[in-house]
Amino acid sequence: MKFATKSVHAGRKPDPVTGAISTPIYQTSTFVFDDYQKPKEHDYSRTSNPTRSALENALAALEGGNAGFAFSSGMSAISTTLHILKAGDHVVAANDIYGGTYRLFAEILPKFGIEFTFISLDDEEKINEAIQPNTKMIWAETPSNPLLNITDLEVVSKIAHESDNDILTVADNTFATPYFLKPFELGIDLVVHSTTKYLNGHSDVIGGAVITSTPQLAEDIHFLLNGLGTNAAPFDSWLVLRGLKSFPYRMKQHARSARAVAEFLYDHHVIDQVFYPGLDTHPGHEIAKKQMNGFGGVVSFNLKSDIKSFLNKLEIFSLAESLGGADSLVEHAATMSHASMAPEAREEAGISDELIRLSIGLEDTDDLIEDLSQAIK
Ligand SMILES: Cc1ncc(COP(=O)(O)O)c(C=O)c1O
Repeated sequence: MKFATKSVHAGRKPDPVTGAISTPIYQTSTFVFDDYQKPKEHDYSRTSNPTRSALENALAALEGGNAGFAFSSGMSAISTTLHILKAGDHVVAANDIYGGTYRLFAEILPKFGIEFTFISLDDEEKINEAIQPNTKMIWAETPSNPLLNITDLEVVSKIAHESDNDILTVADNTFATPYFLKPFELGIDLVVHSTTKYLNGHSDVIGGAVITSTPQLAEDIHFLLNGLGTNAAPFDSWLVLRGLKSFPYRMKQHARSARAVAEFLYDHHVIDQVFYPGLDTHPGHEIAKKQMNGFGGVVSFNLKSDIKSFLNKLEIFSLAESLGGADSLVEHAATMSHASMAPEAREEAGISDELIRLSIGLEDTDDLIEDLSQAIK
């Protein structure tokens, strides 16, 4: 089955009772047993729920994993995944990652004895140097948030699998999505998502997902999801399922407009630096070309002029956190998505106070460029 067909059908079938083509929202906490010690397929909605299962199976099919799990947010998916580790374990993580993930890794999990080293994951030697005898996980986010840095996932998997430590590799695939990047084909063990973004695509849900590559990892993640209670709700699962139907077509348009916007900004004399992996001036362009089928819908740039006045003049782009929806959004990384990173950590990662991140929506490309053009003037 091709990707677009999976986006519409995988994990879903018409409701056996009514024939409803849209998966019903099973808004129930519990399911009546057939008899003593005889539960039906589902018994309690934290453990599993038919609407959530449809989404989980659809996500597993799109990523090419063996199982999927849907969570109440991207952060709950990430927190749950980190519970695979125990006190004393060490993680090598990219230094340019979503600010909330950074906060979890730098400020919360160390309290429970998990250690982190943040590095730029663009160089095999640096990764090898960061690995310690207790390293149990490498955490990549490619393209990264907000600088769109590219990590060669084949290199990461090779290092992890050649080490004697049993290192798990995790890719946060929120930005690329399975439409443009398939981490499992490059040897990655676990894929995580904020489904809040492109998978849902309509800025109307907060959700997350983990997709696994082996039966053991699937068992571990389900055990943790159930034990921690980090599951997605039925209605939220349904919203993401609904978003998936148009997912490939949305991604094509996001990427088409993003490239046009990146080229426009690159040619603009007021703009200092543009970050978009589709530009051949981007340092990760060659790796992105090798491992991705397209470059996604986020464009960042450094704006040297008055940031407040630029943001206020925009008419189509809305000043808001998040990305991946139909509505184009603009944000200032240092005071919004990455405010939870200490200024020194931002500086170390190369996230300047001038960095603006655009989420290119589904509006007409010419209108988006016109809006940016008038606001920059
Ligand atoms: C790459 C990435 N991962 C994870 C998250 C966290 O997801 P959520 O906001 O759904 O908890 C975000 C949020 O922006 C993100 O950009």
